[in-house]
Amino acid sequence: MRKSLIAMLGLAALGSASAGWATEGKSLAAAQGIPYPSVIAHRGASYDAPESTTPAYLLARDLGADYLELDLQRTRDGVLVVVHDDELSRTSDVAERFPERKLSPVSAFTLAELKTLDAGSWFNEAYPERARPSFSKLSILTLDEVIDIAEGNPERQPGLYIETKVPNQFPGIEKQLKQRLEARGWLSRPGRVVLQTFDRNSLALLHEAMPQVPKILLLWVGTKAIAPASGQDFADSGESDKAAFSARQQPKDRAEFLRWLNIAKQGGAIGTGPSAKRGKLGEQSYADLIQPWMNQASHERGLLVHVYTLDEPQDYANAMQAGVDGIFTNRAAQLLRFYQRPTENESALLDKSGY
Ligand code: G3P
Ligand code: CA
Repeated sequence: MRKSLIAMLGLAALGSASAGWATEGKSLAAAQGIPYPSVIAHRGASYDAPESTTPAYLLARDLGADYLELDLQRTRDGVLVVVHDDELSRTSDVAERFPERKLSPVSAFTLAELKTLDAGSWFNEAYPERARPSFSKLSILTLDEVIDIAEGNPERQPGLYIETKVPNQFPGIEKQLKQRLEARGWLSRPGRVVLQTFDRNSLALLHEAMPQVPKILLLWVGTKAIAPASGQDFADSGESDKAAFSARQQPKDRAEFLRWLNIAKQGGAIGTGPSAKRGKLGEQSYADLIQPWMNQASHERGLLVHVYTLDEPQDYANAMQAGVDGIFTNRAAQLLRFYQRPTENESALLDKSGY
């Protein structure tokens, strides 16, 4: 899409939204020290570099993202690490290094073992048009290493948007996270850290450990979450196209969606992170939970809306028009350009940082 059209879509969406309930979102965000609208770099700049690795986070930071998004897990020897999937086979060479444990959870590995894995070559194979030889030498990061990156550029100082991933596997991770953030001096500035989880129990534990830190309850449609009108999960559906299945899913009724807003509010969340359907579907396209009435109901309850995960200008425009307050994106530069905020060329920045 041409740059001028992107800008036009962006301005139209922002203009329309600001005439209505966006004003509420803006003041809700300001009260928490959260930028409006927020640019949340999903697993770093993960369109241009392997997700959750050093170049992905360096690039997201230097592009000017408001937040570096990360999924938190814990090693067998108790170190907080940043990995999205429950196991390591999609994003590393675990099958070659540890064949007998290739499908074991992250928690089955020590930090030293995780650090032997190649966390970048999979990206070069999956996306040859964005491959770089330097990506084959990347390793899994600890939380502290991501904090180091976030602190590393005096001109660009993103916050952290931290998800407790599969938290039932990691008892006490919420308190441990608090200790690390406190030790690093990250809990003193409002809105510098946002905490997120799909898990109601983890939300309660995060709220207990860090009552002043803004928290987001992530929303999705499924039999263990917002009850679907279809009564089915994808796994039970017999279908083969997950995105097409997800695109047809919706809450069983309005009351069910509103019930989850109340769960978020009562659990101490200051907002929700709903899923969205992408215009082109594909991976990371889910059920549409950002319909205008949903966002309006959230704002009426004093809840911000940060939608996951959109990468296309038309999807950004639709989401803003529907009234969201921030967007998780794998393409932080594209979203910054959409908002007409200053940024730089992704490829040139990767070159500059030695990748
Ligand atoms: O954390 C928001 C978004 O990242 C949720 O989806 O599966 O990418 O963690 P996921
Ligand atoms: Ca996440």
